[in-house]
Amino acid sequence: MNSATPSLKLQLGILASGSGSNLQAIIDRCNDSSLQANIALVISNNPEAFALQRAAQAGISHCCIDHRQFEQRDDFERAVVAKLQESKVELVVLAGFMRLIGDTFLHAFPQRIINIHPALLPAFPGLHVQQKALDYGAKFSGCTVHLVDSGVDTGPIIMQAVVPVYDDDSADDLAARILVEEHKIYPRAIQLLAAGRLKIEGRRVRSVPAFPPTPVALHNPPLQND
Ligand code: GAR
Repeated sequence: MNSATPSLKLQLGILASGSGSNLQAIIDRCNDSSLQANIALVISNNPEAFALQRAAQAGISHCCIDHRQFEQRDDFERAVVAKLQESKVELVVLAGFMRLIGDTFLHAFPQRIINIHPALLPAFPGLHVQQKALDYGAKFSGCTVHLVDSGVDTGPIIMQAVVPVYDDDSADDLAARILVEEHKIYPRAIQLLAAGRLKIEGRRVRSVPAFPPTPVALHNPPLQND
């Protein structure tokens, strides 16, 4: 994504259904200027979402569009898209938004919708993924920022972070460890987009110029320390 006019901040529309801790991380990084973007609008489909309170507290425009008021997903999406377009949103950021994204939405914002998912995609798409990682016996999990396409958590991967899974983890323990990393990588991924540092080539999203390679491998259990 190119920012043709670097002096103008990328206008974000953030969609959240729940607590909004990722929204908060993005607000905080905009406020300390490590993220050169502006949150134009926050929308929730859930009137009870704490994310709406976070937006209010930060003085950010926000509204609820309750999906239960619409018979068809298409009509719900049309209402959301209209609000986002009214606010001149350039990048749609799904931050714990628990609705599937359909064609109406995708066509309105082609390659301009991103999501964060609490697993290392393509492993464990969908819901309850921390429990799924535990049940599978994975030794690492993590989080993924990706472009949204018509599949469930299948779009091109922008950034990932890895965390270890420990033998005595509960799903909540693992979710909390992953969430800490979500709060780091989501604002960073948005900043890379805002700065025009990412080139989308089919499934591969490259950094331009490229970053130096990450010089480590991770092992769990560790190689030493018996
Ligand atoms: C986050 O863990 C996010 O990755 C996940 O919901 C949580 C929202 O937390 N999203 C999904 O599972 C999307 N399918 P938050 O409301 O505190 O940001």
